[in-house]
Amino acid sequence: MISEGVAKTILSESEAILAQAERPIENRLSDLMQFLHDRIPHAYWVGIYWLEGEELKLGPYAGPPTEHTCIPVGRGVCGTAVAERKDQIVADVRTCTNYLACNPETLSEIVVLIYHPESGDIIGQIDIDGNQVGAFDESDRALLGAIADKIAHAIWRS
Ligand code: SME
Repeated sequence: MISEGVAKTILSESEAILAQAERPIENRLSDLMQFLHDRIPHAYWVGIYWLEGEELKLGPYAGPPTEHTCIPVGRGVCGTAVAERKDQIVADVRTCTNYLACNPETLSEIVVLIYHPESGDIIGQIDIDGNQVGAFDESDRALLGAIADKIAHAIWRS
């Protein structure tokens, strides 16, 4: 749950990080993950997975290392998002049958898809693990959807 005012600030600061055209896109995305990790309440782990063929490959992230560096489409919350072409909000991962465990501190999760700005194809996703049950709702999804759109445009331009 994120207030409208905080979401506005996070979105404009995310845009500012992505707009640093003189820096490599990889560095801007790493900074963005750290920024979201620090600013989104209850975010324990924040990362991007890129869709490569039928697999999701771990990209930049902030938080503890994860063993899930490669996730097949259809597996876990991340792979389900791609298979269903649908963002995922899991209030309590302990009740989720297709959850791939990363860190014991994770109690909830949100996955928001990143689409190619022109073709509309899925190019990746933002994945956030929360350290509280029910940490995320539609307000987080809306904010991350807007950030995903900015990420897609920044990559497309770079
Ligand atoms: N929990 C995810 C795996 C990725 S980690 O959260 C970083 C899943 O179920 O797909």
